[in-house]
This record gives sequence, C-alpha cells and structure tokens, in this order.
Amino acid sequence: MMAWLAARRERSQLRFLLRGRSLAIVVLIVVSVLTGICEASILAIVAEVASALVSRTNELHISIGPLHISATISGLLVVGFALIAARLLLQIPTVVLPARLAADAQGTLRRGLIAAFTSASWTVQSRDREGELQEVLTNQTGQASFVTLALTGLVTSGLTLLVLVGSAFVLQPVAAAITLVATVVLLSGLRPLSQLVGRRSEMLSVEQIRLAHGIGQTARMAEEMDVFGVGRQQAREVQKLVDAVTRHFSRQQMLGSLAPSIFTTATYLLLVGGLLVLHIANAGHVASLGAVVLLLVRSAGYGQLVSASYQSLRGTLPFVQRVRDRERGYLESTPATGDRALPAIKSITLEHASFAYVPGRPVLDDVSFEIAGGESVGIVGPSGAGKSTLTQILLRLRPLDSGAYLVNGVPAAEYSLNDWTSRVAYVSQEPRLLHTTVIANIRYFRDIAEDAVIEAAKLARIHDDVAEWEHGYDTVIGPRADAISGGQQQRICIARALAGQPAMLILDEPTSALDPRSESLLQESLVALRERTTLLIVAHRMSTLEMCDRILVIVDGRVDGYGPAGELLRDNKYYRSAISLSGAGRAGAG
Ligand SMILES: Nc1ncnc2c1ncn2[C@@H]1O[C@H](COP(=O)(O)OP(=O)(O)OP(=O)(O)O)[C@@H](O)[C@H]1O
Ligand SMILES: [Mg+2]
Repeated sequence: MMAWLAARRERSQLRFLLRGRSLAIVVLIVVSVLTGICEASILAIVAEVASALVSRTNELHISIGPLHISATISGLLVVGFALIAARLLLQIPTVVLPARLAADAQGTLRRGLIAAFTSASWTVQSRDREGELQEVLTNQTGQASFVTLALTGLVTSGLTLLVLVGSAFVLQPVAAAITLVATVVLLSGLRPLSQLVGRRSEMLSVEQIRLAHGIGQTARMAEEMDVFGVGRQQAREVQKLVDAVTRHFSRQQMLGSLAPSIFTTATYLLLVGGLLVLHIANAGHVASLGAVVLLLVRSAGYGQLVSASYQSLRGTLPFVQRVRDRERGYLESTPATGDRALPAIKSITLEHASFAYVPGRPVLDDVSFEIAGGESVGIVGPSGAGKSTLTQILLRLRPLDSGAYLVNGVPAAEYSLNDWTSRVAYVSQEPRLLHTTVIANIRYFRDIAEDAVIEAAKLARIHDDVAEWEHGYDTVIGPRADAISGGQQQRICIARALAGQPAMLILDEPTSALDPRSESLLQESLVALRERTTLLIVAHRMSTLEMCDRILVIVDGRVDGYGPAGELLRDNKYYRSAISLSGAGRAGAG
C-alpha cells in the first residue's frame, strides 16, 4: 500500500514525520475499523427496519454470513442509537490525533531546519538568497505539515471504506466485489493525475521561494526605490512573481479537486449500474439489498475522501521534500570541529594559501604571512583585492582550497569550534544590528553583566552618545528603528565585538562611517586594546591604521607588501599612493 502511495524517498519522509507516533497511528487504525463496523451495522439496521416496516412484521430474523439473529424492531432501534453514540465517541480521536500529528510535524520540520541552518557553514549560509530561508521555514513547512493530515485522512477513510465494502461482501458478494474492483481500477486510473498534482506543487514551491526573495528585496531597497522613483516598476516585477505563484497555485488546486469529482461521478455510475445488474438478475433479499445500496452509497463518500486525501498527499509531499533537502544541504556543510583547546593565540600563519569562490578564478593566490600574538596588523589594498575574503578565512568561516592556516603552529581546523568562537570577535564591513535595545545588542553574542556592557561601550566610544538618549541603554535600535546614525551603529557593533574581551579581533572597515572625532576616539580605544588582543584591521582610511605594528598590502589576491608602515612607505608603491591620496601621511610616521 505504502509503495503504491509514494516513492521510496517520499516514504522515508513520511516515516520521518511520523517517527515516535506509532501509538497515535495504531489508535487511528483501530478507530477507523471500529467506525466502519459501526456505520455498516447502523446501515444494516436501517435497511432491516425499513424492510420490516414495509412488510409489517415486528419479529426480524437477520442472517449476516454465518450469524443468525432474531430481534424486534424496537430492540434493533435501541442498538442503532447505541451504535450512533459509539460512532460519535470514535470521532474524537480522528479529530484530535491528526491535528496533533500535523502540528508536531510542523514543529519537527521547523526545529530541524533552523538547527540545520544555524549549524551550516558560512559558505552555504551565504548562498541563500534574501527571504529564502524565511519562506521555507514558515510557509513551506506549514504546507508540508499538511502531509500528515492527508496521510491520516487517507488511512482513516481508506480503512472505513474497506470495512464498509467488506460488510457489503457479507451481504451481497457479487455487488461488493464489483465495487471493490471498480474502486481499485478507478484509483489507479487517477494516479497520473495525482503525479501531475505533485509536479505542479514542486513548481509552486520554487515560485514561492522566488516571490519571497522578490518581496524581501523590495522591503530592503524601499528607500532607494522611493528616491529613484521606481516603486511602480518594482511592483510590476513582484507582480510577475505573484502571477507565477497564482498560476501554479490555481492549476495545482484545480487538478487536486478534479480527481475527487471524477471519482464521485464514477462511483455513482457504478452504483446505479450495479443496481441495474441486480435488477436484471432479480437477485437478493430486499433488506440485504437495501443495506448493500446504503453501504455502497456511504462507501462512495469515503471513496471520495480517500481520493481527495491522496491528491492532497501528492500535493504536499514536494514541500516536505524541499524542506528536508534544504535541511540536509545545511547539515552536510556543518564545519568540522577539532578537539584541541585554545588557551591563547600566540601566532597566526598563512602558508601558500589560495581560495576561489568560482573554481579556476582565485581571489587569494599563494598568500603567506605571519602575525605574532598581541600584534596589531592593518590590511590594505584596492577594492576587490580580497581583504574581506581573507578575514573570513582567518575567522574560519571559509576553508582554504590549498595551503595552510596555522594558529600557534597547528592547523586552525584542529581547534574546538567552541574554544575558537569564544576567543575571536569580528566587526563586519556593514554594521548589522538586531531590532532590540542597545544593551541587548551589545551582549547578544556574549552573556555578560551590565557593567561589562558599559565598559565595552565606553571602549568603543559609544557610551556618551547612549547616555544622552532618552531611554539610554534601553533605546530600541536596529533595522527600521532608525534611532541612530550610521556611525553610532558602527560603534555599537564595535562595542559588541569588544564585549567578550577577545584574544583576536578582526575589524573590516571599522571606521568607514565614523566622523574624524569618533575615528580618533576609536583609535584611542584600539590602542588600549593592543595590550590584550591580536588586532587585524582592514581599512581604506590610512589614518585608522596609525597604531598598527605592521601593514599587510593585498593587491589582486596576493601579498604585495608586509612590514612596518615606514618600510612600506619607502618600498611599496600601492601603500605610498594610498597614503598620498588619503592625505594622511601621518601613518608613515607610525
Ligand atoms: N560570496 C562571493 N561569491 C563570489 N565572489 C565573491 C564573493 N565575495 C566576494 N567575491 C569576489 O571576491 C573578490 C574579493 O572580494 P572581497 O570582498 O574579499 O574584496 P575586498 O578587498 O574586501 O574589497 P572592498 O575593499 O571593496 O571591501 C571580488 O572580486 C569579489 O567580487
Ligand atoms: Mg571588503
């Protein structure tokens, strides 16, 4: 049965979603069978009582297969009422359990996916387009969880149907056999339609991800769109994505509801045709014939449910597949962690390191240099030279293609990621804050006391600004909060990086948004940090690098020069021109 319902890969998804839920499944199976028995008995009683009323007898002799029962009309009606009550009670688990299973499946998929994403490597995380994860994690997991509703619907209605047809067998074997064969033939005939529904759902899932990406991008670019007056144009672009989703959705829904309609029409044809055959053959006792007709009419209803549940199963399985494929992709990329402890950083070495985003087009090419623990190194170079890429490699966010990255003379990958991440800190090129208070932002990555937050804020030269705000450290900042300037955002990011007193701190363009006063304040704080931290500072502004012991010049992914500023000023063409262009000249003196 399962093989017919779903391919091997799909079956394993279903098993995954129903793992640990065997008791619920068993209860549903038992309840469905009992419901079928109740319904068959009620219908048989109705037929017998109706036939007795027509023939004006009160004593009934009923034969159900080998069973011979004598009863009165009122006795049978009492049994009938009891059966109706029993059937009502049986409905409770069929309402409660599928809803629970679906909710559990949704939770399982969402928890799994978010855990997988957060454990994935930056290489894989950074490939996700804007809005994709959100769409899969909210909308598509929601759609995927309907798979359990479809499956339980299929199991319960299928089993009840089987019991009803089975009861009809006992009463009228020929009519029931014809019905059963016809049902199987009909469901098999509708299979290609179900596969079509599955393919449509796959396309729908892809289009929904495109739409989510388009919406995410529109929200992020709203300011520029207003300025450039391209709101309408952008709306048209997103509308195209909406249209694509609508088109696939409407086809998927239409195909999905087509099968149950075809099924119902065919079953009614069968029923009326079957009666015609029985009439021509002049077969059967009138009460049992009536019961069979009632049973088959009821079976038609369950048959329709089976067919609709099956369509829904085919329509939702692609969403489960998409969520699980994504989860697997994330999990496969989880960076390996070593088990070596990292008590301190004494040296950082790259040996003949090369890295390419696109095979054959190296962004870093044969890069070698060494940084001593506690040293402050500035990294300069033209835009696109590979500076940010280098910082990501030094942070262990991306593995090298060739060459070695050693920390204290040992491959960096051998250190436990826990130890590593607790010793390093980073300020990225774009300040990224959470939509929450200043204090929550600063201690988001490191669980530190309020005093330590304030100390970090003072060190990053943001404390005085915060102290002036009406709500101080409780001011809500972050995307769309608009409470603070770009330079303030940058200093809060720096405070956040300083919060854990890192052994190595990498700053990628920390001063790009700072005014000269804030920059000189920050320089003071970097000087104060020198004592305890190995500092790597990428900067276009040469003045930022005045306090550095050495400067690494990267041009076209290669080391173009490495040494104290004075030495580079003498020997390195790029550095000399950068200094003269920045008009600083002061860095040469360092
Ligand atoms: N995720 C990525 N996928 C593909 N190529 C990338 C990716 N990130 C950067 N690159 C490419 O790698 C090269 C180096 O980029 P990188 O960001 O390291 O330069 P950079 O020196 O930091 O430049 P800038 O000073 O402008 O920040 C560039 O040619 C860039 O286009
Ligand atoms: Mg950069």
